[in-house]
Amino acid sequence: QRRRMVVVKAETINPEIRKTEEKVVDSVVVTELSKNITPYCRCWRSGTFPLCDGSHMKHNKATGDNVGPLLLKKQ
Ligand code: FES
Repeated sequence: QRRRMVVVKAETINPEIRKTEEKVVDSVVVTELSKNITPYCRCWRSGTFPLCDGSHMKHNKATGDNVGPLLLKKQ
């Protein structure tokens, strides 16, 4: 019986956001939110990064991935 070997190629998760920086870090200090919910992108596809613009839906459909935003919710 032959065994099939699956090779998983490591790929970067950030294809284009702020690539001139050594490490992309964003800080958010939350004392008050102007909206009830503020979505922050975690898929690196947003055109309004660091805010989510819904681009994760296209990415998920194309790749079978399941990423979504970080939601900051006002209490
Ligand atoms: Fe990236 Fe929504 S666009 S999580």
